[in-house]
Amino acid sequence: MVLLRFLMKIYILGIESSCDDTSAAVISNDVICSNIIAGQEVHQLFGGVVPELASRAHQQNIIPVIDTAVKKANIQKNQLSAIAFTRGPGLLGSLLVGTSFAKAMALGLNIPLIEVNHLQAHIMAHFIRNETHTNPIPEFPFLCLTVSGGHTQIVVIRENFEMQIIGKTIDDAAGETFDKAAKIMGLPYPGGPAIDGLAKQGDPLRFSFARPVIPGLDFSFSGLKTSILYFLRDRLKEDPEFIEKNRPDLSASIQTTIIDILIQKLRKAADQTGIREIAIAGGVSANSGLRQALASARDRFGWKIYIPPLEYSTDNAAMIAIAGYFKFLKGDFSNQKVTPFASEK
Ligand code: KG4
Ligand code: ZN
Repeated sequence: MVLLRFLMKIYILGIESSCDDTSAAVISNDVICSNIIAGQEVHQLFGGVVPELASRAHQQNIIPVIDTAVKKANIQKNQLSAIAFTRGPGLLGSLLVGTSFAKAMALGLNIPLIEVNHLQAHIMAHFIRNETHTNPIPEFPFLCLTVSGGHTQIVVIRENFEMQIIGKTIDDAAGETFDKAAKIMGLPYPGGPAIDGLAKQGDPLRFSFARPVIPGLDFSFSGLKTSILYFLRDRLKEDPEFIEKNRPDLSASIQTTIIDILIQKLRKAADQTGIREIAIAGGVSANSGLRQALASARDRFGWKIYIPPLEYSTDNAAMIAIAGYFKFLKGDFSNQKVTPFASEK
């Protein structure tokens, strides 16, 4: 297989449709050629993703997005070596669109079909190389804090796909906490980027919120969500304009609390495992405060840190394509009977 890797140029088309982004990417071996993402503004009206609307939008977007990804990669469809797609976890209706399309396209082109786990793909995004091969790639074993809208996990990665979850949230995810807090403050969905932007002008120490006391490496965010809700409810009774007057300070204080919880557990995981190669992944890894906190942890604790480029932090198909590439090298293919799954078994 190693020889194959050097002799052949493998082109993998990745398809991601697990939530509200329709994305397609082409990778040539481990070097990215194109990564097209169509977001869905329709959900903003509802302050969160509406699954039925997401599936319909995927249905509309999928052909133009794939067509653009293949054209931008400057290849013909018949040069593709395999099709990789997100099998789960995610919204079932959304996953069905990408899965059905991937199956049909692989069958039509008579090439292998490769299923990819969305959460593993977020981690695998760290192996995407740029054209000059100058970006740093983590060395095994490394730790990854995967923080997205639906998940918060600390994972030990010993080899490609040899991943062990050593800590996870027992209730809500970090991204969900950003989104919920933003919704209470009247900010648009998704809330993470909105809070991130406002936090830059705010005082992170102005307000304090309940921090969970959870043993081991697990996380909990439901208490923090409730603490934010009750705090704002009480302040609004005294001053109905409390939120409008304090949005930047509220955003900075909430963001800092979430980041402190994440970094504290990551530190514990690094100490317990003795691993100093530390990565972050998932939508919340786009957060500028978390990126800064990780950079300062690198200096304080002697970590080597890996932060994905913004376009590979939030949902994207480049991460599906790179995971597909490594599965292709192993000959790890799916058959036409494969069906998507909404949550991990
Ligand atoms: O990985 P992702 O795109 O989708 C899932 O797999 O869930 O993550 C989406 C989550 C949302 O909760 C969103 O608010 C959060 O990532 N997010 C951020 C930022 N950008 C996206 N959270 C904090 N700061 C950001 N800059
Ligand atoms: Zn994701």
